[in-house]
Amino acid sequence: MLQIVGIAKNFGGLQALRDVTVSFGRGEFVGLIGPNGSGKTTLLNCITGIYRPDAGTIRFGNAEMSGLRPHKIFQLGIGRTFQISKVFNRLSVKQNLNIPALTEGRLDREAIDARALDILVTIRMDHLVDTPAESLSGGQKKLLEIGMIMMTDPQFLLLDEPFGGVHPELKTQLENYLCELHRCGKTIILISHEMPSVFRICERLVVLDRGVLITEGSPDEIRADERVINAYLGGNNEA
Ligand SMILES: Nc1ncnc2c1ncn2[C@@H]1O[C@H](COP(=O)(O)OP(=O)(O)OP(=O)(O)O)[C@@H](O)[C@H]1O
Ligand SMILES: [Mg+2]
Repeated sequence: MLQIVGIAKNFGGLQALRDVTVSFGRGEFVGLIGPNGSGKTTLLNCITGIYRPDAGTIRFGNAEMSGLRPHKIFQLGIGRTFQISKVFNRLSVKQNLNIPALTEGRLDREAIDARALDILVTIRMDHLVDTPAESLSGGQKKLLEIGMIMMTDPQFLLLDEPFGGVHPELKTQLENYLCELHRCGKTIILISHEMPSVFRICERLVVLDRGVLITEGSPDEIRADERVINAYLGGNNEA
């Protein structure tokens, strides 16, 4: 479904991504892991049109994506959340949820309200509908951000550290929500340093180290992989 071939991205003399080739199939739940600065967010930025790769191609179905603007990529059904939440602090939870759907312009007001309520119940934030986003906890903002992208029902979700700064109780809720979305057929790429979660919920893991894809495989394969232990898990693998 999403095919990345030979992607490279440089920032000055720094090679943030080097010849990365990887594919993601429809309905997969893939964890993208690796140490700080290994290129995970850069790869997401290349996929979503925020960065233009210096080399390589990205195809989504039959469409060549390189060079497309971010909003065009969003319209292809690829939704994305950011490492630092991008909710609108001054707006209420409900107003935040409405923005993507209003921008997209496909649903009428009634359908938008119904969908927003549905999502709020699922993420258990329906009691916060009129709360300004600035009053939410870090974890609630992460949940709201995923709720916002679900308003346009994308097939493909790219999530950059959704567990970052999330209270353990909300983390379980967030994990369950992602598993539920996966069961409903969504394709998910999850970036996270939260190893126990990633190893528990992902079907396949892709590992970056210093801009290079060093290995990929099932959680069991990755857990036992010397290269990953050396690069990342540091021999202290509690996952
Ligand atoms: N816009 C930019 N300009 C210059 N350097 C950048 C830019 N974006 C990323 N980099 C550099 O590219 C490398 C990869 O960064 P990236 O943010 O992709 O890592 P990451 O794997 O997401 O790390 P983390 O786990 O800390 O979020 C880092 O060395 C980073 O400093
Ligand atoms: Mg990152």
